[in-house]
Amino acid sequence: MDLFQAGPADLRSLRDSAPVHRDERTGLWLVSRYDDVRAVLADPGRFHPDNALTAVTPIPRPVLRVLARAGFSLPPTLANNGTDTHGDLRRLVARFLTPARVAAMEPRIARLTGERLDRLRGGEVDLHPVLARDLPAIVLMEVMGIDDVDIDALKAWSTASLELFWGDVTVERQYELAKPAAAFHQWLTARIKAADPAGDDLFGALRADDVPIRDAAGLCYFLLIAGQETTTQLLSAAFHAVLRHGDLWSRLDEPGMAAACVEEVLRRDAPVNTWRRIAAEPVTLSGVDIPAGAPLLLMLAGSGSDPEVFPEPERFCPARPNARKHLAFGYGRHFCLGAGLARLEAEVVLRETARRFPDLRLASAVPPPMLGLLSFRAPLSVRVRLGERLAAGVTTLAPGIPVRDLEHAGRSATMPRL
Ligand code: HEM
Repeated sequence: MDLFQAGPADLRSLRDSAPVHRDERTGLWLVSRYDDVRAVLADPGRFHPDNALTAVTPIPRPVLRVLARAGFSLPPTLANNGTDTHGDLRRLVARFLTPARVAAMEPRIARLTGERLDRLRGGEVDLHPVLARDLPAIVLMEVMGIDDVDIDALKAWSTASLELFWGDVTVERQYELAKPAAAFHQWLTARIKAADPAGDDLFGALRADDVPIRDAAGLCYFLLIAGQETTTQLLSAAFHAVLRHGDLWSRLDEPGMAAACVEEVLRRDAPVNTWRRIAAEPVTLSGVDIPAGAPLLLMLAGSGSDPEVFPEPERFCPARPNARKHLAFGYGRHFCLGAGLARLEAEVVLRETARRFPDLRLASAVPPPMLGLLSFRAPLSVRVRLGERLAAGVTTLAPGIPVRDLEHAGRSATMPRL
């Protein structure tokens, strides 16, 4: 099995025949049953998070030197921090992501979505660059109070960083990727050093709390990637999932429907499909003995499709009573700090798009190209035919598509009502 492209059939076969399995190529112990994954996440004493951000393809010395020359380092801060400093750093970041602060972003997310949709002229469009690619980055910067950011540069830095740390990459590619990763870290360090401790932004808060610059830069490096690349992935997965399933697109304005759909996407198509831990002592999972120091790969996507917990797991069913039990945001001490923001963004973007373009359809039944990194898996494009625009603005109709087809396409499957 290719770990970087593992699909539902691979996960099923792992869960059924080898729920705890050592992958020879990477040395990672794959854990794929829901109960095992949750048990590991719930026990930070026996399972440490230290390897969460370790490059899956080891970075050779010459490439490490490129990073070191730029002062690059990732000390334990949040996701990779099993020490006592985790709690304070987590509380500092959580101040920027309170439920009230996140809820206050709703009109802004709706406006950003609307502005982008208003620019579309009809026909066939890829919604990935329009709505998924940089909208989450803009929202994240605003919620963190960080202004004056070149969003295109941020996206280039963060996609390169994801590939460097989670990709199946050659040494030549590692060289190429190390440069933008180093540039990102240097930019962060300069911005944090220049920040006003009295300011109400994330950089200022790190200075006000006297977080050492090296730790602050490492924390921001992870947060500014994790806080938006994942939501980009969730958005593109959500469009595909909803548009492929019966009449859901036309029902997104029903109370609770958009939120329920987002939860099903998280369960079934988890954008962060795996996450890592280290066994701190010898442990037994599903009857398999694992030695101390073993690196574990928790198959979050495998846990979401475990039939012991989610009956008919391959079925996309927003009425599923226990959908929120999924582990797509992790569990326990390191549970994702941005879960509320990611959920809100996906819900609002889906609803606003469906409101403006009720007849929107996927342009093709062919599966899209997928991002295939160890821990990140999502469609890289969302090609759609827009259909007629309902809100104020230009009325568009995809050329060559009869209205009749737009109205009836894909409405055969029945879904239980909420
Ligand atoms: C769909 C979007 C997202 C997914 C699927 C996701 C998933 C995850 C996962 C699996 C973890 C590891 C949890 C664990 O170890 O138990 C995590 C941690 C984290 N996430 Fe997210 N995330 C998303 C969006 C965000 C956003 C929008 C932010 C910030 C605004 C964010 C910030 C964080 C932070 C700071 C941590 C580390 C928490 C800690 O170690 O205490 N994430 N996320």
